[in-house]
This record gives sequence, structure tokens and C-alpha cells, in this order.
Amino acid sequence: MRVTIRDLKQMKKRGEKFAMITAYDYTAAKLVEQAGMPIILVGDSLGNVMLGYDSTVPVTMDEMVHHIKAVVRGTERAHIVGDLPFLSYQADVAEALRNAGRLLKEGGCQSVKLEGGRYMADTVHKMVQCGIPVMGHIGLTPQAVNQLGGYRVQGRTPRAAVEIMEDAKALEEAGAYAIVLETVPAQLGRLISERLSIPTIGIGAGVHCDGQIQVFHDLLGLFSDFTPKHARKYADLAETIRSAVSDYVSDVGEESFPTDEQSFFMKPEVVDELTGRRAELA
Ligand code: KIV
Repeated sequence: MRVTIRDLKQMKKRGEKFAMITAYDYTAAKLVEQAGMPIILVGDSLGNVMLGYDSTVPVTMDEMVHHIKAVVRGTERAHIVGDLPFLSYQADVAEALRNAGRLLKEGGCQSVKLEGGRYMADTVHKMVQCGIPVMGHIGLTPQAVNQLGGYRVQGRTPRAAVEIMEDAKALEEAGAYAIVLETVPAQLGRLISERLSIPTIGIGAGVHCDGQIQVFHDLLGLFSDFTPKHARKYADLAETIRSAVSDYVSDVGEESFPTDEQSFFMKPEVVDELTGRRAELA
């Protein structure tokens, strides 16, 4: 049985903090679940770290479904959240419902995430009524990068902070089961976490959120284009991979790979027969 949205709400009630991470493929999902991850986001950040786009704006529904399926195949216990990509849910509620339903039906995830506050409340409400659990995402919303003018800290002024608090409240009232708070001051992260009964999940929102989420590639030092301030590198896998692959390149050049250990052999009599025939043919 996978972790449910009820389990996550109970964790907040018990004051139990939880970690969340992104994953985009079968192997990574399997590894993070084995490491004890209760909840995994197949984020549209796959546009940056898997597909090389310069933002999440170009990511399509088909790309999301493809990666969600792989993550679902790699896990048994973790709750899988599928991200709704840019313009798959903003135009109208009916389209949002169809696309959210597609992530659950075709992708196999257990809930969806979408960006936006008060203006998305009606859509969230309708999805929840139809049986689709929704995680909200406010503060810095990367799909709005062109409107925001970059990846900047949000909610620094009293007015901007109040707007984010109102967004959080509206999403909770609409029935969202959790809310991602991205790149907001830690004090605001704390205030919102104290005022909501549903879990807040911070990324650059301070230690007082109920959960924390990080991008797989940032946490493991795999993505060298850019490391955000909110990320802590728990490993330097980029260097590990470069060094291992460079050893492989040298070993092949020097004929020290493969050795007998990585090779397959015929019985000596088969070799004799083959070489004998060759001699006959010559
Ligand atoms: O797509 C993503 O990875 C996200 C996280 C940064 C929360 O939305």
C-alpha cells in the first residue's frame, strides 16, 4: 500500500517532519524509495534537468505522462505526485480536469500538483470534488518565470507576504491536501505553516515548513548548469560520473578493459575445431 494523502496530513498533526524529492525515471525512483522517501514528485523541473530546456514552460503533457509512468514502475510504497505542466490547467476547468485525470489514469500517480493561488482555487475545488487529490504550489512559481522576471524571492514586502498567505488559505479552503512554498522568506514559511491545517512543503522556505522538497539533481550534485541557494549538495555525483567514465575511456584505450572476468569463452575443443576448419579453408 502506498503512502496516502491521509498519512501526510496525519504526519503534520503529529508534528512529524517529512522529506520529499523529485525523480523522473525508474532507476532513480527505486533508489530514493529504498532510501525511505515517503513522497516523490515527478516535477516539471524535468524540463530543465532531464530535457535541457531553459525553463519549465515548454514541458508537455506527453512528456509528463512518460516520466510519471517510469517513476510509478520503480516504486511500490511512495506516494507519487505528478506535476501539471504549463497551460495544461490554466485555460479552463474542464481542460484542467481532463489533464489531471490523464496523469492519474495514464501516468498512474496518486495526486497532482499545480502552480497558483487564489485564482486556481475553483479549479482545485472541482478536481477535489471529482476525486483528484491536489497539491498546491505558491511563492515562486517557475511556470510564471516570464511574468516574474526571473527566479526571485517572493513575499518580501508586507503586501506581497499577505497575498501569499491569502493564496495558501484559499488553496486549503478549496481542498488542497498540501502546499509547496517555494523561495519565500523563512518567517513567512513559518507563519503559513502555523496557520494551515494541511502540510506545507518548503523549497527555500525555511526549516519550519512541515516537509521539505528538493530536486534530485541539486541534492546529488548532478546538475552543473546552476545550483540554487536553497539546495544542499549531499553528494558530488557529477564528479563521480566524470571520473568513472574517464577511467573507462582510458581502460579501453590501454586494453585493460575488458579482462577475462568480463569476457565469455568457448570450450577449447570448439576453438580447435574452428581453427582447424579455418586451416582447411586456407
Ligand atoms: O518541478 C519541480 O521540481 C517542482 C519543485 C521545485 C517543487 O515544482
